[in-house]
Amino acid sequence: MAAVYTHGHHESVLRSHRWRTAENSAAYLLPLLTPGATVLDVGCGPGTITGDLATRITPGRLTALEMTEAALDLARAEIARRHLTNVDFAVGDVHALDFPDDTFDVVHAHQVLQHVGDPVQALREMRRVTRPGGIIAVRDSDYAAFTWFPELPELDEWLALYDRIARANGGEPNAGRRLLSWAHAAGFTDITATSSTWCFATEEDRTWWGTMWADRILNSALATQALTTEAATEADLRRISEGWKRWATEKDGWMSLLHGELIARA
Ligand SMILES: C[S@@+](CC[C@H](N)C(=O)[O-])C[C@H]1O[C@@H](n2cnc3c(N)ncnc32)[C@H](O)[C@@H]1O
Repeated sequence: MAAVYTHGHHESVLRSHRWRTAENSAAYLLPLLTPGATVLDVGCGPGTITGDLATRITPGRLTALEMTEAALDLARAEIARRHLTNVDFAVGDVHALDFPDDTFDVVHAHQVLQHVGDPVQALREMRRVTRPGGIIAVRDSDYAAFTWFPELPELDEWLALYDRIARANGGEPNAGRRLLSWAHAAGFTDITATSSTWCFATEEDRTWWGTMWADRILNSALATQALTTEAATEADLRRISEGWKRWATEKDGWMSLLHGELIARA
């Protein structure tokens, strides 16, 4: 049931994930978090959002979940760096969580459902382990709704390539717009659906985001998959990388990334 995780955990990917905070990636959930709550963070990645959530629910405990010990070690390092003592760690798959029914007050997943083979089953499992009346909070990007200026053809190539590889891996790159339909299919009735964006439009933000993607398209798991599946040649990847660098140095450069998000009650 699990899809292949398209991005992998190359340094260029982690550079992007480590920029994330609860404020820029889980603002829709923050007013609902209370000290003492128990939280499960599914697909925690390198754990910066995880650490922020854990701080907010102290003295409650947060469980950080990842698919492999190697991925979980990234979160362990971040939590240790912050000297947080209220975080537990678990290896698992969101399609079949190894927790009893009604375990957590809040179950959170940021940019995870777009990568899984069966997002409806994932939401059912997230609900099963949430106590009645508790909260399931999910946020996912919607790649086809990303928009930018200038309209460089290399960035169109990047989007088409990403879409092709993510789908071949069993993911849904336009998950943001589908979250509500998936929650309905999973049987939720009490749902609040919203959206929010990341915007990169200052010289500093453009340089960071554009340089990161210029590197990522050449060196991450996405690049390896593009080459091994013959979805792109090395020359294609180099051209896309140069396009990202050009966008990053463009004084009029602007980019907005749409995300769908849901608060659903168990
Ligand atoms: C885009 S990253 C997001 C990481 C983190 N939530 C963040 O936003 O910084 C998606 C994460 O989900 C994990 N993941 C993918 N499929 C999963 C599954 N079936 N069960 C649990 N985690 C999964 C991946 O290993 C990856 O670390």
